[in-house]
Amino acid sequence: MSERKGGILVLDFGGQYNQLIARRVREAEVYCEVLPWTIPLEEILAKEPVGIIFTGGPKMVYEENAPRVSAELFGKGIPILGICYGAQLSVYLLGGKVAASDHREYGKKAINFKVDNPLFKNLKDESFCWMSHTSRVEKMPDDFEIIASTDHCPIAAFANIEAKIYGVQFHPEVVHTEEGSKILSNFLFEVCEVEKNWKMGDFVSASIEKLKSQIGNEKVICALSGGVDSSVAAMLLHKAIGKNLHCIFVDNGLLRKNEALEVVEMFKAYDLNLTKVDAADLFLDKLKGIVDPEEKRKIIGEQFIRVFEKAAKEVGKVKFLAQGTIYPDVIESGTKDAAVIKSHHNVGGLPDVVDFDEIVEPMRDLFKDEVREVGRLLGLPGHLVDRQPFPGPGLSIRVIGAIEKEKLEILREADFIYREEIAKAGLNKSIWQYFAVLTNLKTVGVMGDERTYLYTLALRGVTSVDGMTADWARIPLEILAVISNRIVNEVNQINRVVYDITSKPPATIEWE
Ligand code: XMP
Repeated sequence: MSERKGGILVLDFGGQYNQLIARRVREAEVYCEVLPWTIPLEEILAKEPVGIIFTGGPKMVYEENAPRVSAELFGKGIPILGICYGAQLSVYLLGGKVAASDHREYGKKAINFKVDNPLFKNLKDESFCWMSHTSRVEKMPDDFEIIASTDHCPIAAFANIEAKIYGVQFHPEVVHTEEGSKILSNFLFEVCEVEKNWKMGDFVSASIEKLKSQIGNEKVICALSGGVDSSVAAMLLHKAIGKNLHCIFVDNGLLRKNEALEVVEMFKAYDLNLTKVDAADLFLDKLKGIVDPEEKRKIIGEQFIRVFEKAAKEVGKVKFLAQGTIYPDVIESGTKDAAVIKSHHNVGGLPDVVDFDEIVEPMRDLFKDEVREVGRLLGLPGHLVDRQPFPGPGLSIRVIGAIEKEKLEILREADFIYREEIAKAGLNKSIWQYFAVLTNLKTVGVMGDERTYLYTLALRGVTSVDGMTADWARIPLEILAVISNRIVNEVNQINRVVYDITSKPPATIEWE
């Protein structure tokens, strides 16, 4: 986000859901910025925030290197909402007491709200909230009162209403907190009394301006995969710098059936500098025998960069590399204070030495559906903007175990049938992502009176809003039956099809 004064400041203490908070604020059409907790007090005040939200985080406030802010922040008359760790930090800084619980409270919990305060205005007094904590508030600071409680957490929310300081132990930003959006909206409009002052169109114009001044007359190489994220990044850059943008599309041999052709065709309609590089043999050679998912991701990340460097040399002096990194890629690769889940190839997989001066990631703070909205605002067609996400490491993380050309072919054919049938059934818009995974498992079957010993294919289908959490899609059984039947009949080497019925968490969307 570009910097301006008078917005909501989200101080990041390392929790997994922090950008989700920012996103909820943006949804309410209020300008907000996420900044690390390390930012000095003077800089916070210089931004003249109308309200501050302290996020959650993985530490305990009494730990030696726990992230903290200056207690002086509380005396400035700025409304503050602390969430989870952020709430405990407020208690700690204001003289209350935090204690380790006997057990971890995790998941959806029944909660009672006292609704006679601005934060909980118009809430139902009994509802459900999302908890994820081990320590809890034991004693509130002076002049604070309890405004919500659960069975295991008597101080689930507290406030000094006059000072406009609030703390909630649960996560209002997560959809499982039923009144969560209302609570955040109350914080903005009832507690901070902010006016609506932001729209996604502001993001588009601000980022084009920012890209113009950041890049000037330099050349930029953009990694264009044909996916939503990199296409939107490319279009933003195209609007900002025109012909100084050079897009490189790498066919890494890990794409879906017909994909390389489709991407090149799709971008012919735009006046982009687009070069297709055929690097399938290089990638498959480097991946030979590699089984570990993180190793696959790192190898692919590195090869991508090497291919770009080479392509960039042909363009001439290139200062910037642009990438379509979005927020879930950043958070799942681990930030300084959050844990690593997977190294997304365009973030954690970056090799140490990169032959560009700078990396440009204009959508680093956005979620997928926000990126789609930006794409629409930029005039990209619906069939591109609504494409399902496809991971940078491509089919390599959907062939479990070592990658071989033959396995990729099997997967491509099966995945194509799956996608074709989902589209035929008109489910392609309601399911966030649907793809096939070639497991490394062979099982016994019988076909035409003969014994077979072939691969098991897994189908994955999930619904999600942002890819951070997901539920398995309830695809009608009769459609699954058609898909399974077609795959086993039409794809050699597969004699069994299973459907993945796990949500995220505890699983992830991709299998590797
Ligand atoms: P997971 O598997 O982490 O996936 O639940 C969340 C979303 O991110 C996509 N994904 C990736 N996207 N580079 C990407 O650009 C990657 O390395 C990567 N890994 C997973 C995944 O398809 C899902 O939409």
